[in-house]
Amino acid sequence: MSVVAVCSAHGAPGVTTTALALTWVWPLMHPDRRVLLVDADSAGSGLLTGFLQAELPDMAGVLALAATRGPLSVEQVVECAVAIDEDSMRMVLAGVTDPRQARLLGATWSALIGAARDLGSVGVDVVVDVGRLGHRYEPTPLLDGADVVAIIVRPEVASVVPSAAAVRTLQEARAGRVAPLALVIGEGYSPSEIGTALGTGKAVVVARDAWAATALATGSAQGWRFERSPLLRSARGVVERVADLAPSLAVSS
Ligand SMILES: Nc1ncnc2c1ncn2[C@@H]1O[C@H](COP(=O)(O)OP(=O)(O)O)[C@@H](O)[C@H]1O
Ligand SMILES: [Mg+2]
Repeated sequence: MSVVAVCSAHGAPGVTTTALALTWVWPLMHPDRRVLLVDADSAGSGLLTGFLQAELPDMAGVLALAATRGPLSVEQVVECAVAIDEDSMRMVLAGVTDPRQARLLGATWSALIGAARDLGSVGVDVVVDVGRLGHRYEPTPLLDGADVVAIIVRPEVASVVPSAAAVRTLQEARAGRVAPLALVIGEGYSPSEIGTALGTGKAVVVARDAWAATALATGSAQGWRFERSPLLRSARGVVERVADLAPSLAVSS
């Protein structure tokens, strides 16, 4: 199983943007692997209204999967996902637009974490956009089953304090497993200070890069300028750190 969950402890620090950037660089760092981005933000998809620009075929996304009972096969999951590049190296399983829909999804998240094992064995790794932690319909099975949980932090008190509390809760839930990884966007407290405050070890920097973030939020991400942008370059550093933490996600050399 190869699952990286991305989350936050407060509103809008950049979870969806970072999850998309990781998804974009994943096949560049793991040329033999594909990647599926699971849009599991119970408060409402940032991908459907952003990167996907509300374009989704009928019978796609997590609600289509929710109509299926029992375990999910690789084929069922891939059928409900949409490719976001020409080679289908990167796929998105779109989420919900209304938080009320999320209450239908508890069993789907459990089935998906089961399917993630099979996806991994056929060469598809999974990145999850969990959104903000603590939502009433939080996709807890995806967090519990993830190899690595990354929490997005802004380097300011209003972000660090709730993030430290969230990391303590995650640590309890993940006793004996890989500790959460802190990803910091922007200038303020240093990555070491953030790591000390959160008890995670030095945070990894995700570049503040309004141009590339907007390209991801509007679905216009493409081309060499995008792939060489500070945001995408920093996302490569995150993938390397993830590989150090979880050997099953090792980067090909
Ligand atoms: N690395 C970044 N650099 C610059 N702006 C960013 C970055 N990440 C996110 N943003 C901006 O912050 C806002 C919230 O980002 P988003 O990813 O939607 O947050 P969340 O998913 O946590 O709600 C958006 O306007 C987005 O463009
Ligand atoms: Mg989001």
